Amino acid sequence: MEIVETINEVRERLARARVQGRVGLVPTMGALHAGHASLIEAARRACDTVVVSIFVNPTQFGPNEDFDRYPRDLRADADICERLGVDLVFAPSTREMYPRVNRTWVEVEKLSEPLCGARRPGHFRGVATVCTKLFNIVQPDVAYFGQKDAQQAIIIRRIVADLNLPLEIIVCPIVREPDGLAISSRNQYLDAAQRREATRLYQALSAARRRFADGVRQTEALIATMREVLSQSPALRVEYVEIVDAETLEPVASIERPALVALAVHAGSTRLIDNTILDLNDPTASV
Ligand code: PAJ
Repeated sequence: MEIVETINEVRERLARARVQGRVGLVPTMGALHAGHASLIEAARRACDTVVVSIFVNPTQFGPNEDFDRYPRDLRADADICERLGVDLVFAPSTREMYPRVNRTWVEVEKLSEPLCGARRPGHFRGVATVCTKLFNIVQPDVAYFGQKDAQQAIIIRRIVADLNLPLEIIVCPIVREPDGLAISSRNQYLDAAQRREATRLYQALSAARRRFADGVRQTEALIATMREVLSQSPALRVEYVEIVDAETLEPVASIERPALVALAVHAGSTRLIDNTILDLNDPTASV
């Protein structure tokens, strides 16, 4: 496995690999965990060359967010990549990715506006821009994203479609802890009490899923159920609990087509997100 820090090295290293076989890219911000590993494993199974990018992208963090305290440990990340059979780690500096004031942005209308987009202004513009840059740098045949960040995955798919980018996007299922908590680099900010309470996100989604399986279709009722579960923990502050169309991200009153149930909750200063899809064709599937 090689670790490179410059765009030129990526291009040199991949020139031949691209001609000879499929190149898969897994974009990450590091602090790698089992969620990232599932993406890397999927890439390893399907591609000849697997590239993992590790870059804590400043343009997707708001001024009061956790950019400075975001966990960074390239050594540990490189060990995980090595173990998973990654061929190339691209770990650029901020200067390498943004050598001058950035004037060109990728903005995805509508899909960036609701849910996390409404609470994190500029976040998806930063994500969309850095992912487009990474696609241009690595020029992968396929890139892997997690359903954990459902809105992000939808936005990335739309960029690829709207801009005719020559790659395929694969979205992998959410990897959870045994108690249901969706694995996240930010979970390590939680103290023991917050960690216990954090399972309520999964419990809330599971409760909504049970009611849906029982035939409840009105989103207002499902949202009330989830709020009820979350309210049992005074340590959690709900940012949003919403049910939207899984494709357009527009609000829905009654579930007739696949719907995305998404929530964001604060435990102390840590922001946690989770989601599930409710689909009439598969009403009892687990979260
Ligand atoms: P990061 O939070 O490091 O996540 C990298 C990828 O791992 C994302 O596609 C995310 O959805 C996926 N992922 C995280 N936790 C997961 C879990 N529990 N199960 C399955 N997949 C999981 O998302 C980003 O970085 C950045 O926004 C990035 C796309 C790299 C752009 O900067």
